[in-house]
Amino acid sequence: TGKKGHLVFAVNGQRFELFTVDPSMTLLEFLRTQTPFKSVKLGCGEGGCGACTVLLSKYDPLLDQVEDFTASSCLTLLCSINGCSITTTEGLGNSKVGFHSIHKSAEKTDRPEPSPGYSKLTVTEAEKAIAGNLCRCTGYRPIADACKSFASDVDMEDL
Ligand code: FES
Repeated sequence: TGKKGHLVFAVNGQRFELFTVDPSMTLLEFLRTQTPFKSVKLGCGEGGCGACTVLLSKYDPLLDQVEDFTASSCLTLLCSINGCSITTTEGLGNSKVGFHSIHKSAEKTDRPEPSPGYSKLTVTEAEKAIAGNLCRCTGYRPIADACKSFASDVDMEDL
């Protein structure tokens, strides 16, 4: 395959500038092979499991605002992300810079007792919010509980 193009984008705040781009390379391949951000995984490779999901942020000149949306990096061509800011789970925080509220919610749901304020989001709503993300290792209940806790504990205006 030929190589061409010039891309500028950011991953977790780190700037990348590429002067040659393989037009067939996916964002997932790039992240896994050329960055330290390995949290994205190759699951199905077809947009069905969510293991490769990233947050894509891009300025929309028509709306004059930054639009955020999730994307399956296995289906996103690297050459299509010029000007985008990409966030993987590493970009949400860690032990060195501090954890994101969703990490803290996930940690809390490892405990047997529910956290206070559980009534704001139902299990059904939490499951709906994480639809499209398949999990083979931990089961869905702790994940749904973490989503419920996160929604209950966090002021969404602060995110
Ligand atoms: Fe399954 Fe991308 S690897 S959605």
